[in-house]
Amino acid sequence: MLQQPLAAAKPPPPVHVAIIMDGNGRWAKARGLPRVAGHRAGADAVRRTLYACRDLGVRYLTLYAFSSENWKRPPTEVEDLFGLLRLYLRRELAELHANGVRLRVIGERSRLAPDVVALITDAEKMTAGNTRFTLIIAINYGGQAEIVAAARRLAEEAKSGRLDPAAIDEAMFERFLDTHEIPNPDLLIRTSGEQRLSNFLLWQSAYTEFLFTPTLWPDFGREALEEAIDEFHRRERRFGAAGE
Ligand code: FPP
Repeated sequence: MLQQPLAAAKPPPPVHVAIIMDGNGRWAKARGLPRVAGHRAGADAVRRTLYACRDLGVRYLTLYAFSSENWKRPPTEVEDLFGLLRLYLRRELAELHANGVRLRVIGERSRLAPDVVALITDAEKMTAGNTRFTLIIAINYGGQAEIVAAARRLAEEAKSGRLDPAAIDEAMFERFLDTHEIPNPDLLIRTSGEQRLSNFLLWQSAYTEFLFTPTLWPDFGREALEEAIDEFHRRERRFGAAGE
């Protein structure tokens, strides 16, 4: 009997997708709206993209919500962005939890308002046991500062005699980063046509595939994500090995 040809197996989705959400301001400007309207529409794109990731089998999503450079924006815009983050953490938390989403926040917390820190800590505590999906939000995050902080902590351990400097290797270094226990991103997407890393996940993106799309962040959603994952599947990842 003739064997049926096997259907081509669908390649596995990227385990971890990271996104630099860019273009909110331009989206608003094109509509004659204030910048905050772009950020609000951006928060809707966050919701769409998160659930699209989960449905497509992605396990980790990291979003660059506020960089350590974003403090240079006008104070009213900074307030608007933190207003949206507060709203997101308050309004979406129950739904995230019900959907098995674990929330982690990376970045330097000492400069954040105490109520924001409390919202983050509570959300992390409440969702800590969820295993289905991990949402990582980068707030006051900068990759260089994260690496320096890890180096400082390692130096302190060595100074106190708890650590032999000769034992420091990449695996140990990673344990001192904000992203410890999170796999490195497979795919990093930046929206709005800019082609820069802007101090995002510098250590973690050593072997990440980068995808730059002209789509503005508020227009991003399931369809754009599917296209990005299709492009990811067309790439050949070699992790430094020789090609065929
Ligand atoms: C970049 O667009 C976007 C940001 C700096 C902020 C991203 C924040 C959100 C999407 C809202 C809330 C986030 C969460 C996680 C709920 P831009 O203002 O630099 O756009 P432009 O380059 O067109 O001016």
